[in-house]
Amino acid sequence: MEKETEKANNITVYIRRFDPEKDAAPRQQQYTLQVERGMTVLDGLHMLKQTQDPTLGFRFSCRMGVCGSCGMMINGVPGLACNTQILDVTTTALTLAPLPNFNLIRDLVSDLVPMFGVLKRLQPYIQRSDVEEMENPTMEYFQTHHQLEEFLQFTYCIKCGCCMAGCPTMATDREYLGPAPLTQAYRYNTDSRDDAGDARKNLVASSHGIFSCHYAGECSKVCPKGVDPARAIQLMKKDLVLSYFGLAKHKCAHLHKKPDKASYKPKIDVPAHTVGK
Ligand code: SF4
Ligand code: SF4
Ligand code: FES
Repeated sequence: MEKETEKANNITVYIRRFDPEKDAAPRQQQYTLQVERGMTVLDGLHMLKQTQDPTLGFRFSCRMGVCGSCGMMINGVPGLACNTQILDVTTTALTLAPLPNFNLIRDLVSDLVPMFGVLKRLQPYIQRSDVEEMENPTMEYFQTHHQLEEFLQFTYCIKCGCCMAGCPTMATDREYLGPAPLTQAYRYNTDSRDDAGDARKNLVASSHGIFSCHYAGECSKVCPKGVDPARAIQLMKKDLVLSYFGLAKHKCAHLHKKPDKASYKPKIDVPAHTVGK
């Protein structure tokens, strides 16, 4: 493989283009790009923009897989342009398109605002009823490492929208809340310091909510951060069913004094994926 990638030089890049002020529908444009080892899809796009086509539209910020801005379809699979090396996916032809299941703004830029709208409705932050204690704290909200492990993996989400683009339910139902917001609802519902699970449940269990997920698992396969939204969604379905039958485990959201033995820092393992990579 190393010999093949060393040999690769010019590849053909097909980019889906759309300018809402000029185009009636998206079209495909072809470029030739000289690829060097280590060049990411985002590097390639910058190269094309600087040397061949300044009108090319794409979104990026951090260039290091953290901000979630550069999600796009890379040879038909949702992924981060800055976190994908071209020679890892092709030595001949690269096809780039905007993330599907969102409206298109321009070229490779999809409109992620609806995803953030659902996130906002699901209140992705810790809420407590003991307002007085929060404003004038007397103790700490101590959390054991076991309690942290229950939701840790789901905190790695960078809101890139790749899981939304890969989800077959999203493809047929744009009202579906979607894997990224649902995962964040589970993350906060599971946090032992949070009290707002009941408030989130109504939206989570509504039509177009969590029971529309038929566990295709595509969201977990494409997630560039290993978040495993399919796992969060199935765990939350279980919680909702248990809570419907009055069998849900009650969370311990009370104030705690930090126990003495908690001064050490245990190693925390990230839970395994339920959907293979
Ligand atoms: S769950 Fe993964 S794919 Fe989905 S938005 Fe978060 S980081 Fe991106
Ligand atoms: S597991 Fe659910 S949310 Fe994930 S891709 Fe499948 S249908 Fe969509
Ligand atoms: S530019 Fe930030 S994740 Fe790619």
